[in-house]
Amino acid sequence: MCGIVGVVGNPQTTSILINGLKKLEYRGYDSAGIYVTDEQGHDILKKRVGKIANLQQALDTNDQGLAGIGQTRWATHGKPTEANAHPHFSEDKRFYIVHNGVITNFNELKQKYLSDVHFASDTDTEVIVQLIAYFAQQDNSSTLTALQKTLSLLNGSYAFALMDRQEPDKLWVAKNKSPLLIGLGDHFNVVCSDAMAMLDQTHKYLEIHDGEIGVISKEQVQILTLDGQAVQRDPYTVAMDATDISKGTYDSYMSKEIDEQPAVLRRIAKEYYRDQQPVISPDLIAEMKQADRIYIVAAGTSYHAGLVGQELFEELANVPAEVKLASEFGHHLGKLSQRPFFIFLTQSGETADSRQVLVQTKALKYPSLTVTNVANSTLARESDYALLLHAGPEIAVASTKAYTAQIAVQAILAQALGQALNYQPKHPIDVLNQLGLAANAIQTVIDQKDKLEKLTEDYFDKHDRAFFIGRGNGYMVALEAALKLKEVSYIHAEGFAAGELKHGTIALIENQTPVVAFILEEATAAHTRGNVKEVVSRGAHTLTIAKKSLAQSDDTIVLDDLNELLMPLVAIIPGQLFAYFAAKHRGNDVDQPRNLAKSVTVE
Ligand code: F6R
Repeated sequence: MCGIVGVVGNPQTTSILINGLKKLEYRGYDSAGIYVTDEQGHDILKKRVGKIANLQQALDTNDQGLAGIGQTRWATHGKPTEANAHPHFSEDKRFYIVHNGVITNFNELKQKYLSDVHFASDTDTEVIVQLIAYFAQQDNSSTLTALQKTLSLLNGSYAFALMDRQEPDKLWVAKNKSPLLIGLGDHFNVVCSDAMAMLDQTHKYLEIHDGEIGVISKEQVQILTLDGQAVQRDPYTVAMDATDISKGTYDSYMSKEIDEQPAVLRRIAKEYYRDQQPVISPDLIAEMKQADRIYIVAAGTSYHAGLVGQELFEELANVPAEVKLASEFGHHLGKLSQRPFFIFLTQSGETADSRQVLVQTKALKYPSLTVTNVANSTLARESDYALLLHAGPEIAVASTKAYTAQIAVQAILAQALGQALNYQPKHPIDVLNQLGLAANAIQTVIDQKDKLEKLTEDYFDKHDRAFFIGRGNGYMVALEAALKLKEVSYIHAEGFAAGELKHGTIALIENQTPVVAFILEEATAAHTRGNVKEVVSRGAHTLTIAKKSLAQSDDTIVLDDLNELLMPLVAIIPGQLFAYFAAKHRGNDVDQPRNLAKSVTVE
């Protein structure tokens, strides 16, 4: 989390930094700050608690310069106060830094080298900048040497941009684990955590890898290894358009992204099929064919999409599959199968929990694939293979279109693998056709927004908790619908296996407690309906969402039929819309719910 930006060689530095930070606000929004300087070393440092808008209000017309750095923060070490906001600076006010990541040995470094230094914040970041100043003073070293010495001591994750008042026409950057890109402008250069931040400045970017240092001036970018060897690397072009990241006429990105889902599924079908056949890299399929078990590693919403994927791989390819929570799995790899294959499912491609699993599986020489929405993201680069979601930038913190895209891409991959293995599924699925049907079925739900808004008023607006229940795929959707509702509306919601409720949790059902039930599969429909009756008897206010072929006359929402394995594609849409409307009715910030960040780049 946290987003960082930097600019060098542009008289519009302040506005480029602020616009860039606004695009990175999804990475955290507890506080924000900038440091800007001109060639004579006249500088300003401004920080504010809260969103970028607060920082912007604090700026005046004189706050201009030719180079600068900025950060939007998701607090880890130290509360979200102005003192803890970035940029941080050395005691002598010579060096300024913005950082994304966590320095795990900051206390040890502070004690060992900086016991005489006065610290202005409680952050781990400040240790980096104080150490650089310490080494620069100690032997009168150059900034580069002081930086190299500091980097050799740091443990943890970081992407940072550093400025030195004595050389105001340069930025120094370095990274380990956290994302960082250098953008190449026309007679100026920029740095950012995510290309999206600087798309209105440039489409040309240069990667910087873990363990490298970048020295950036107006006309020049040098990439060096830690020991000072020059690295040659070609820039690449980011195809995304700045308009892809505009809200258009929508009141929120979340609402726009929910509506985009039919188009996303159609785009995925177009990208992954030729002559009705799935097109996946033959090398990837050959590698997957060797696997005796697929491990899907993910977090949050992606984990919920992985639950659906697990069934798809087993049903369509006959390969055992299991889904693992990245934050747990990395510390408990357990007994793996003989020939495992790892799929990292991650919208952002940056989730630190998932990455730490990848680091381990790579060290064990196991093959890996990242399924992600962000080309060139850390996990996409570091795994053996990458498949893109083609969902377009997902900007709302609550994930919607990436979930449906993840299910779709897993279905295509499972189909391709099953075909390569000559497996004949007991119930074959024409995935391409199903994706088309799913796009139409989703549109049908979206077209009922008025009804869904009214249901939100009736079921959720006056309550502080809600239950979502289902079995099989209905349970998987229940988990995701509950997560969506709680993260944006702050209503305490739980997703439960319908049959499990009576083993304890049913004690929480009282008069009018909202319970949403998903009835999506034939084998368990009657059982789930039985569970609905159990909660009705205890006073619950129930809402049933059923697939058409299983629907009864009193079901609240009836969904068009898809193959059962793919029903989550459409069944989640009411859940997303309940969450959106409930948050909106409560006056919450729909796109940037409290305490959250979109890319969770700390473990
Ligand atoms: C919830 C949400 C998060 C993410 C999770 C993993 O709406 O967005 O739960 O799904 O942080 O993120 P990625 O998929 O980027 O690895």
